[in-house]
Amino acid sequence: MSKILKIRARQVFDSRGNPTIEAEVYSKNQSASAICPSGASTGTYEAFEKRDKNNKRYLGKSVFNAIDVINTKISKKLKGINIHDQIRIDTILINLDGTRQKTNLGANAILAVSMAAKKLSAKIKKTPLFKTFLVKNNFSLPYPLMNIINGGAHANNGLRIQEFMIRPDKAKNFSEAMRICFLVISSLRKLIKKKKLSTSVGDEGGFAPMIDSNEKALDLIVSAIKAAGFKNGKDVSICLDVAANELFKSKKYSIHSKKLVSVDQTINKYLKIINKYKIKSIEDPFAENDWTSWSNLMKSTKNVQIVGDDLYVTNLERLKKGFLNNSSNSILIKLNQIGTVSETLEVIKFAQIIGYKTIISHRSGDSEDTFIADLAVGTNSNQIKTGSLARSERVAKYNQLLRIEEQLGKKVKMNKIH
Ligand code: PGA
Ligand code: ZN
Repeated sequence: MSKILKIRARQVFDSRGNPTIEAEVYSKNQSASAICPSGASTGTYEAFEKRDKNNKRYLGKSVFNAIDVINTKISKKLKGINIHDQIRIDTILINLDGTRQKTNLGANAILAVSMAAKKLSAKIKKTPLFKTFLVKNNFSLPYPLMNIINGGAHANNGLRIQEFMIRPDKAKNFSEAMRICFLVISSLRKLIKKKKLSTSVGDEGGFAPMIDSNEKALDLIVSAIKAAGFKNGKDVSICLDVAANELFKSKKYSIHSKKLVSVDQTINKYLKIINKYKIKSIEDPFAENDWTSWSNLMKSTKNVQIVGDDLYVTNLERLKKGFLNNSSNSILIKLNQIGTVSETLEVIKFAQIIGYKTIISHRSGDSEDTFIADLAVGTNSNQIKTGSLARSERVAKYNQLLRIEEQLGKKVKMNKIH
């Protein structure tokens, strides 16, 4: 048994340049660290992100109080605990906090410690991190959901839908998936240049050109897929994250244009673009409390992946409600929405039992930490959403998946998405 000796935390920065927490867990001879990510279009039911709120310091965004909690209370409580007993570690953290949304210690403090403990356990066992989660053999790689055009809260271009993604369905292995995405992104860059639009990128690495309509962005992507030599809807599929919480007001939505319209009109338009652009996946098509609209969309679509992100916030109770309501057929998984590794694994296990696809996700404010790449493989998750092939904090996760693929050897397959 290896015991936790102490925990130390420091303030570092995320990919948007905002302060965040890095926690380092020590045993007698070794240590491991982890960095907590941070979202921009967060759901109301997410676990609480603790910031100092002192406007004279880092515009209120510093995390020194949460760091203090780690260095004192958390470190003291976890000292002497078996590093390999993740459930015990996480239970102690949950109980020490004692609130539903981790408002006391802060989910950012708790998660940084939880992830660092998991990494240290793997390091001490000399086991690759991906082998320490749910899957013990017959590993498979997830399909990347690459966010190639950024809009919504992740850019300032006026695009209503937050994320326009591609999924390389044709790929037989992960390296091939990367090659296909690289080719589509390269041809998209050329097309955007040709239109004399900016090829600069948004928070998740996708292009953020000044385009004023969803359909113009979709047309561009269809052309890019074609120009790269692939067939839209077959070799490469278009997937969306609407992040509809941001586009919801008085029971109406302004997703397809600036005008607020009824749910029925919104669904009709969804059906039209699904058909026209062969869209295979839509995340957060409606707001987090609008359960009826979710199930109505499920009833009106076939073979479309409907993904709950802000709807579920990686929370078992909300997932159970969604299951009973027939709200979706997939769930997005974000560690910091719930706050510990163990609770995240519980949600993934339940989702897979009820036949939901699990998609492991980054946050728009992320870091060089590649924990989620290992988590995706180690939980047999179908897909991973970690931005475009740009910005090192995004690319780092893809590079880690390439390393894992190499380690697993030629026989390793892609996960099944159909
Ligand atoms: P966030 O967005 O990390 O800014 O919350 C990502 C998403 O909505 O999937
Ligand atoms: Zn989302």
